[in-house]
Amino acid sequence: MSNKIGIVYSSIDGQTHKICNFIKDELQKSNQTVDLFSIDNFTSNITNYNTFVIASSIRYGVHNKRIIDFINTNKKELDATKTVFISVNLVARKSEKNTPKTNPYVIKFFKTIDWKPTVIEVFAGKLDYKKYPFWDRIMIQFIMWMTKGPTDKNTKIEYTNWGKVTQFTNNLSSM
Ligand SMILES: Cc1cc2nc3c(=O)[nH]c(=O)nc-3n(C[C@H](O)[C@H](O)[C@H](O)COP(=O)(O)O)c2cc1C
Repeated sequence: MSNKIGIVYSSIDGQTHKICNFIKDELQKSNQTVDLFSIDNFTSNITNYNTFVIASSIRYGVHNKRIIDFINTNKKELDATKTVFISVNLVARKSEKNTPKTNPYVIKFFKTIDWKPTVIEVFAGKLDYKKYPFWDRIMIQFIMWMTKGPTDKNTKIEYTNWGKVTQFTNNLSSM
């Protein structure tokens, strides 16, 4: 039976969506069936898929609440299939914090939720100060200053390592 993959994502500024779209395109190139949904628009059933991917960005230290609710509500269905969780955040721009075992948000998340996906992955996101409302920009500049990242308000950097996303997608095909 060919693989049917479902992807649900939460994305505020579009980077997690971009990553999930990339994964979808890559999988489709190798003739896999992929359905991609925003968490606000999930109209299917987890049991329709052989592999189910859930992706969320981090904001102020936490994954999206709707994603957390979705996991808690659908735990039985998730436990019955192969699952993947993807976290997108800026701390993962640092090589020593870009794996599930070293990324602080992922470590903390799986201590607080009763779910063990088959695979966990972390990708670095995008920094684009001009997009953020004033106070968000100040806060992110502060976080960046604390973590020795760029603080210039014109900074726009995509930290996502697309080679890593491609590698991950190849592994997903053979899961
Ligand atoms: C308001 C705000 C808060 C954020 N908080 C964090 C954070 O606590 N830790 C972190 O590593 N990244 C943080 N980020 C960075 C986002 O995770 C990163 O920009 C990611 O690419 C956003 O993905 P999205 O566009 O799919 O929402 C924050 C970004 C914004 C705009």
